[in-house]
Amino acid sequence: MRERILIIGSSGQIGTELVMELRKKYGNENVIASDIRPSCKEVMESGPFEELDIMNQSLLISIVIKYKVTQVYLLAALLSATAEQNIELGWKLNMRSHSHVLDLAKDGLIKKIFWPSSIAVFGPTTPRENTPQYTVMEPNTVYGITKQSGERWNEYYFNKFGIDVRSIRYPGLIGWKASPGGGTTDYAVDIFHQAIQYGKYESFLSENTGLPMMYMPDAIRATIELMEAPAEQVKIRSSYNLAGISFTPKQLASEIKKHIPDFEMTYNPDFRQAIADSWPSSINDNYAQKDWGWELKYNLEKMTSNMMKNLIEKYKTIA
Ligand code: NAD
Ligand code: SER
Repeated sequence: MRERILIIGSSGQIGTELVMELRKKYGNENVIASDIRPSCKEVMESGPFEELDIMNQSLLISIVIKYKVTQVYLLAALLSATAEQNIELGWKLNMRSHSHVLDLAKDGLIKKIFWPSSIAVFGPTTPRENTPQYTVMEPNTVYGITKQSGERWNEYYFNKFGIDVRSIRYPGLIGWKASPGGGTTDYAVDIFHQAIQYGKYESFLSENTGLPMMYMPDAIRATIELMEAPAEQVKIRSSYNLAGISFTPKQLASEIKKHIPDFEMTYNPDFRQAIADSWPSSINDNYAQKDWGWELKYNLEKMTSNMMKNLIEKYKTIA
């Protein structure tokens, strides 16, 4: 059967890259991008785009029927920092969008769902180092609460209705193609832009705040590998831990200094520090490795070199 894939929230940090990767694999016309705002030129010009507010369930259903969609990747959400500043919208958008998509599958309209979770499902009572797949989870942010509830919904829909829903607890994602959308881990992207343009950066997290991160090519590959894994290998239906690379702002700054020796870093923690302090500093992803063969490719050094190279090129072309 021909797969037709709908990406909801395609204009964001992940969507911008995921759409293009899926179009390469499945054909441009078979990957439908959708968002409340237009995507980048590359996405808009290479295949179908639909303006869709995911809160509009009837429009969602009509798009799914129009394109005979078989799989949905739901990326629309408010991220941790933005949701903390707009609690009501964070809760409504993150929860309702998920129900709308799960119900598409329950009603037999689509066959497979990808829904991303986050390290934000963990909280201050979770063991911070090498955080296991199964552990105490008491998130204390609205974003984390929506992600944890979402994981429970995933498992419930899988057990009760046999819905093929798959999920990853992404670490903070770092990429050069699109800007991040309001998360606590965004410093690890902003720092590259500021370092290249101005040679300095003021971090909103303190120097020794360790967090799990991942370079976007690894995250996109993990997502597609999980979605393409045989169903019987996907044993966890709530969401899989993925470890990525753990580092602090200070360690990232030293890595950047290898490329820009005069780079200066200062620290001025804001409200996002409390969010970061409630999250793990490193993650154990043994289950993802064992169940569907997950393997990381980019360490801190390789990720930093690749980010620097690509962003320097990007700034040259827009100068
Ligand atoms: P993003 O903020 O960059 O993109 C989200 C997109 O959703 C935006 O383009 C926005 O316009 C769109 N959107 C907002 N409201 C919408 C609505 N009502 N209808 C349709 N579209 C709407 O986010 P992202 O970084 O691409 O993250 C995508 C998903 O991955 C989210 O669920 C997020 O929680 C999860 N995630 C991201 C990270 C990360 O570091 N980027 C880490 C863990 C989990
Ligand atoms: N990177 C995300 C954030 O900081 C984690 O889900 O919100």
